[in-house]
Amino acid sequence: MNLTGRHLIDPNDFTIEELKRVIDLGLEIYRNPSNYASLCKGKILGTLFYEPSTRTRLSFESAMLRMGGSVLGFSDSSTSSVSKGETIADTIRVLDGYADVLVMRHPREGAPKLASEFSSVPVVNGGDGGHQHPTQTLADLITIKNYRGEIANLKVAFCGDLLFGRTVHSLLKTLSRFPNVSFVLISPEQLKIPSHLRDEIILNNNVEIIETQSLEDHISDIDILYMTRIQRERFFNEEEYIKLKDSYILYREKLTKAKDDLLILHPLPRVNEINRDVDADSRAKYFEQAKLGVYARMALMALILGVIE
Ligand code: NCD
Repeated sequence: MNLTGRHLIDPNDFTIEELKRVIDLGLEIYRNPSNYASLCKGKILGTLFYEPSTRTRLSFESAMLRMGGSVLGFSDSSTSSVSKGETIADTIRVLDGYADVLVMRHPREGAPKLASEFSSVPVVNGGDGGHQHPTQTLADLITIKNYRGEIANLKVAFCGDLLFGRTVHSLLKTLSRFPNVSFVLISPEQLKIPSHLRDEIILNNNVEIIETQSLEDHISDIDILYMTRIQRERFFNEEEYIKLKDSYILYREKLTKAKDDLLILHPLPRVNEINRDVDADSRAKYFEQAKLGVYARMALMALILGVIE
């Protein structure tokens, strides 16, 4: 298996074996970071963020710096030539000469894919509109592997904005390819997962999916609870957002019936869908998830840069 030079735009771009390679290397780096501190010496990461980000951009930066490399880029497209009307194709044709690997976040679905078609260096999708977010999936998978030992035999509940949540789309698509994983999809009627995605998952992988509006009905028999924020910026109308924004709020008392080894995950940022009293529960792992995401991104970059086989 050789990931050198590969783009990561959609989670299906990598086989299960390749995803496992990234996760296992990520955990190895997490456990022995000093062995990898100079791995990317002389390498440069370019960050092209056309949409706000805290974790994704900074975790990529941290990942590159922790491997001895350097970073350049922008986190606000109004300060770049995009504001003068430059196309993505032109921006990429220039930036691939400035950096060895590029990560792009863009409000438009498909923008990172387009970038990859013009780039001579690997391009990573850091989130495109309401579409996909494959490196958040790496952060999710490394967390599951770290706490459960394997990514298999899981009942996974996704709760919140399943329509616009790109982290949900990517993780669902990916987990459905792992052995014996089933899903409980909890959302208001208006925020159910796109039907084409549901059909694709069921058709391709023959996975069991329950769609429901009730978190309470399922809290006792799930292994992972993936909470998500209602994505205000993707609503067409503020009234609709206000109506739906507090659809689900997880309080600690709601967890009394949950399994002892439940994993509570969230891609963050949270607004108020997880009450702060849950943070003290040992099953809450969202901050660990954000941290492990750095190591998954270290492994990804090391592999696509070809500094490790
Ligand atoms: C998510 C995103 O940007 O899609 N955040 C992240 O990358 N960790 C989730 C969100 O914004 O709600």
